[in-house]
Formats: sequence, structure tokens, C-alpha cells
Amino acid sequence: MTTDFPVLQNDRLLRAAKGEEVDFVPVWVMRQAGRYLPEFRELRVEHDFFKICRTPELACEITLQPIRRFELDAAIIFSDILVVPQALGMKVEMKPGVGPVFDSPLVNPQHLDRLIIPDVKQELKYVFDAITLTRHKLEGKVPLIGFTGAPWTLMAYMIEGGGSKTQSKAKKWLYQHPEASHKLLKILTDVNVDYLVEQVRAGAQLLQVFESNAEYLGLREFKKFVLPTLIDINKRVKAKLQEEGLEQVPMTVFAKGGHFVLKELGESGYDVVGLDWTIEPQVGRQLAGDKVTLQGNLDPCALYAPADHLEDIVKEMAAKFGNNRWIANLGHGIYPDMDPESVKNFVTFIHKYTKSP
Ligand code: CP3
Repeated sequence: MTTDFPVLQNDRLLRAAKGEEVDFVPVWVMRQAGRYLPEFRELRVEHDFFKICRTPELACEITLQPIRRFELDAAIIFSDILVVPQALGMKVEMKPGVGPVFDSPLVNPQHLDRLIIPDVKQELKYVFDAITLTRHKLEGKVPLIGFTGAPWTLMAYMIEGGGSKTQSKAKKWLYQHPEASHKLLKILTDVNVDYLVEQVRAGAQLLQVFESNAEYLGLREFKKFVLPTLIDINKRVKAKLQEEGLEQVPMTVFAKGGHFVLKELGESGYDVVGLDWTIEPQVGRQLAGDKVTLQGNLDPCALYAPADHLEDIVKEMAAKFGNNRWIANLGHGIYPDMDPESVKNFVTFIHKYTKSP
């Protein structure tokens, strides 16, 4: 498939990410393609979750579903962060009502020998094909975001074997097996660098790194184990894009619950820093500094509010962020029982309260 794509008509997201002026603040919603949409649930009845991820036509269709309904300023490729552990040879299933379940999680450092270092271009080809197909099908309407799970978040899933309230098994590795932890984080960092570069080659126009499990760590462990991997990914991806003659794309880091490290993330080289909903926009700005664009940070549950109440909340949030260097989003993924009408309202209100004079 050619990577000669239709001309982009709405570049608000990319402009905001680079710190350029915009007519409206761009808005998208984490997990915008998913279970709160009846058309997603309909497809999901017929197909296994990872089968959808592995079938470019289905992944593309689901990516486009929210774009058809709402005036969003970006699409995000339908996939999951757990396709990376799968590429390393781990078996993961998505059990309805439960979430991801690993067949044989990593229990001790010897288990690192089980991991197969993948040829990323080959093992994750289905993601790249989905991205290329989606870029064509978007017809330049909005930019397409590629993503990955950050090393610590992936490590935690690979050790816990699924979701966890405490991440204590994964954290135990940091304290009991620091060398093996560094080794695993290095494997995941290396795979992520190739994975993100190939997503750009396939057509991704912005890359987001999800460090969803930042909140479980304290500053000491975060700085020792995690921050270096995030900095490394940004630096190496950009260097490799340059080396390979590919276009530079903005990069976003979203460390959920990582308030304690916002200053460092602001200096990490990423273009955009995501905020969850528990931090005031002005405090986030103060900590992250002026050189980055902020993304966020509406409480996902605010979408349960009646429209007029939601409007007040969005208006207040917009005033706090200001129109520059902001990408509007939720502070985490949308919940499956959300009324799609609320997403429509959210998008409308963001555009309404951020229109440049
Ligand atoms: O619209 C989009 O944002 C793109 C698709 C996307 C999915 N997962 C689809 C999905 C993205 C960007 C992700 C990222 C992801 N996956 C993260 C990081 C973001 C975050 O929420 O912190 C994480 C931690 C995962 C791992 C994961 N995938 C979990 C823990 C779960 C189960 C919990 C849940 O929300 O259901 C998933 C499942 C998942 N990923 C679904 C979707 C649409 C629902 C699966 C289903 O239909 O059964």
C-alpha cells in the first residue's frame, strides 16, 4: 500500500503540539474508539478483541467510528498496548468483564529468557498496515495518532499478568531484582523505539507513550527506573526518524498519576505532556514549564454531568489552560457506559470556549 496520503485538512492537533497558534483548541478523547459506542459493541460481539487489532480492515473501521460521529481533531489507531508483550512471545487474552489476562506472567528473572526479541517490522506488521489503511481512509480529515505502552507500564502487566490494584508483584522486582528490572525495561525500550519509528513510516502523525502505571511509583523509583526509559524513547525515536529520512512527528508522554515528575517530564524532550484530572491546569503548567504543550485533563466522570453542568466545567477548564499549547482531552480513558452524546457536547464546548478572536 502506498504511503502517499491525501493532504491533511485539519492540522490543529499538530500545530498545538508544536506550540503554534490555532483557531480552536484541538480536542480528542482517550479511548474514543471503544465500548461506549454501540457500533463498536456490535462489531465486538462477532470478533475477539485481539483479532480486531490484528485485522487492519477492522481496526481501521473502529478507528473511524468516532470520527464519523464527532468533530474530533484527531483519530487514534485502534490497537492496544499489550500487542508489544505479544510480539515478545507472551500470550494475552482480553476477557470480557475482566480485562487482559496473561497465560504465563513473568514470575522470576529467569523467565526473561522466555522473551523472544522480535523483528518488529514483521511481528507488528498488522499495526503498521492498519495505520497505512486508516491514513488513506481518513482522506486527510484529521491527523492519525500512533501509540505504545511505556516500558514500566508494560513490565507491570507482564509480571502482574493483568490488572492489579497495587502493582506489588511488579514493584517487588524493582526492589528485589533491580538488574533484571533494568534488563526488562531495556528490552521494552528497544522494542518501543523500533515500534514507534515504524508507526511513523506507516503514516502515524503524532506518537503517544502511555505510562498509565506511573501512579504506583514514588519519585525515587520513577527517577531510577522509569524516567530514563521515557527520555531514551523520545530521543532515539527522533534521532532514528532523522537518520532514516522520515518526517519528524511530535511526541506525547502521558504518565498517569505522575504529578511528582511533571517538572522532569517538561524537560524530557517530549513535545506534549499529558495531565490526569487530579491536577489543576495552572499547577501542571507551572511544573511542566513553558516549552511543552499540555494535554488533558477533564475528569472522565464529568461526562456523566448534564449538558449545562458539563458546559460550565469545560468553560472553567478552558479558561485555566488558555488557548495556547493545549490539547483538550480527558484525564484518562472514557468509561464504557458513557452516553456518546456527552462526547459530542464535550467537543462542541471545547471549540466554543477556545475560539480565537
Ligand atoms: O480509542 C483509543 O484510545 C484507541 C484504542 C486503545 C485501546 N487501548 C483499546 C481498548 C488504546 C490507546 C489503548 C491503550 C491501553 N490499553 C492502555 C493505556 C491507556 C490507559 O487506559 O491507561 C492500557 C493500560 C491498556 C491495557 C488494557 N486494554 C486494559 C487494562 C484493558 C481492559 C480494561 C478496559 O478498559 O476494558 C484493555 C481493553 C481495551 N483496550 C478495550 C479497548 C476498546 C476494551 C476491550 C473489549 O472490548 O473487551
